[in-house]
Amino acid sequence: MYFEDNRNDSLQKKFGILGKSAGVQTMLETIEQVAPTDISVLIAGESGSGKELVASALHKHSRRSHKPFVIVNCGAIPAGIIESELFGHKKGAFTGAQSDRKGYFQSADGGTIFLDEIGETPLETQVKLLRVLEQGEFLPVGSSASMKVDVRIVAASNRNLEKEVEAGTFRKDLFYRLKAITLTVPSLRDRREDIAILANKFANDCAIRNQILFKGFSDGALKVMSQHRWPGNIRELKNFIESMVILEKGGVIKTEVIYRYLNAESTPTELNPLLPVKLDRSVDQAERELILQQLFMLRREIAEMKEMMAVGINTSSAEKEGNEEYHPALEVLPDDQGHEIEPNGTAAILNPQMLGTLTAAQVERELITRSLERFNFNKRKTAKALQMAERTLYRKIKEYDIVKES
Ligand SMILES: Nc1ncnc2c1ncn2[C@@H]1O[C@H](COP(=O)(O)OP(=O)(O)OP(=O)(O)O)[C@@H](O)[C@H]1O
Ligand SMILES: [Mg+2]
Repeated sequence: MYFEDNRNDSLQKKFGILGKSAGVQTMLETIEQVAPTDISVLIAGESGSGKELVASALHKHSRRSHKPFVIVNCGAIPAGIIESELFGHKKGAFTGAQSDRKGYFQSADGGTIFLDEIGETPLETQVKLLRVLEQGEFLPVGSSASMKVDVRIVAASNRNLEKEVEAGTFRKDLFYRLKAITLTVPSLRDRREDIAILANKFANDCAIRNQILFKGFSDGALKVMSQHRWPGNIRELKNFIESMVILEKGGVIKTEVIYRYLNAESTPTELNPLLPVKLDRSVDQAERELILQQLFMLRREIAEMKEMMAVGINTSSAEKEGNEEYHPALEVLPDDQGHEIEPNGTAAILNPQMLGTLTAAQVERELITRSLERFNFNKRKTAKALQMAERTLYRKIKEYDIVKES
């Protein structure tokens, strides 16, 4: 057992692929065996599961490591130009072909080509790929002389190619040629025991990179993360951890923080009171929010600096409001000293998508309304969360005509 653990650790380090689950161990052993060879490999796995990482590990640990590693996203190249992109073309091959052009295969000569989303290539191009696989040669578009290259092919797909073959959209011969060595990258929910390892690694790396403090996750927090579905796999987990570590700067990340950042749907009912506002956050939204919050912090810092420069540092809220630059919306965020956002903190309640279209007054109204709803119209708590004098809050409620909806 000790020996096995050791071996797993060293393979993880060697390939930069983390995980102790059986699925990852099998994958690491296969990579170890096939990386040094020239054999072509098919990598199967859901989106975000780590296919590209596996492909690059295969290249880095081959005799080709000092030669190019060329990544081609077959799904992103329009069908009309894919052959010229892959195999190059001769001058005059088609309108606009003003000179000879190298294709990806030629650029990868001596190295490895990674054909990502190979299932997306048109059938006629698949025939040509089969020829490269079998004979190592191809015809550039508009040329009658075939060209030979020494390229190792690694392909990946997040589609089930077997089904594509049945449906007639993927060539059977190409599939059989490719699938001899298939590396299956397990989805994250099929290897939940790896989630804690990955979460800690991503959080630590992120903290070091951004020079922020990260004190770890509570056991409960790790448990919640390991029970989540992660449809976007490791990429989703990584983005999730990074935005959280940056926004929560400092303390130990606890269960309620994880819930606050996760989709409310996956939250057990007994914890729902922590989430009066449903946070349907996709990774994109989380990223936008992150940028927005950084912007808020920056503006708040500027406002504070201006304030400090002004005569009489002891400015009261009422005085602050007289300042044109000052806006309560800029005050809702956790401070830079790493003070924990309370479970009901206000940081996540503004919708970044809306902001560009609103006036400052509308944003303020929205912010106050949502905060009030969040705290069930408890004015004292709302004022505290908004760092606003209670008296001011009453005035604003009146001014904006905010009423409690039943
Ligand atoms: N086992 C792992 N250990 C550490 N980091 C990983 C692991 N697997 C994936 N990652 C990281 O997760 C992110 C997503 O991985 P990658 O881009 O390889 O996924 P993919 O399967 O190619 O995704 P897509 O299908 O969307 O192209 C990358 O930042 C990668 O470094
Ligand atoms: Mg990829």
